[in-house]
Amino acid sequence: MVREKGKSAMKVKSRRLADDAAVLVLHGPNLNLLGTREPSIYGRDTLQAIDARLDAQARAAGVRLLTFQSNHEGALVDRVQAARNESVRYVLINPAAFTHTSVALRDALVAVDIPFIEIHLSNVHAREPFRHHSYFSDKAVGTIVGLGALGYELALQFALGQIAS
Ligand code: DQA
Repeated sequence: MVREKGKSAMKVKSRRLADDAAVLVLHGPNLNLLGTREPSIYGRDTLQAIDARLDAQARAAGVRLLTFQSNHEGALVDRVQAARNESVRYVLINPAAFTHTSVALRDALVAVDIPFIEIHLSNVHAREPFRHHSYFSDKAVGTIVGLGALGYELALQFALGQIAS
């Protein structure tokens, strides 16, 4: 890092924090099958393609992107807890089916106290009644539903703006 002349110690410190900043993207169960899984609902993008676009978007803003997908609730809880030690400033999460069932994952996000955005590819409110309830929405900074893979990019744009401000 180049120390600019005339900058206060405080300013240099806060810029170093921003240099380390990371966004963690979490994908819940069955999202590893994107591309072939019910494409009329979830689209044809693979998870790898979505993550690659997000990575380019984060890099352009000088922020590290960490991504993690699991079909296992405990693995997602462990990943959220690990984020405490990684300068993670924002979490983007599509909890997938755990949206409607997981108190444990909700509690983990609240416990680490990192702001998060909840994303769903499909409009869960226009689907079966059991998809209308989320264990995450009331704790999220915001939610994006029904905009397909673009929802992740819009959420990341918001998170990057928050980190920069
Ligand atoms: C989903 C919606 C959930 O109800 C479902 O279980 C998923 C994907 C979505 O992105 O639209 O797996 O989170």
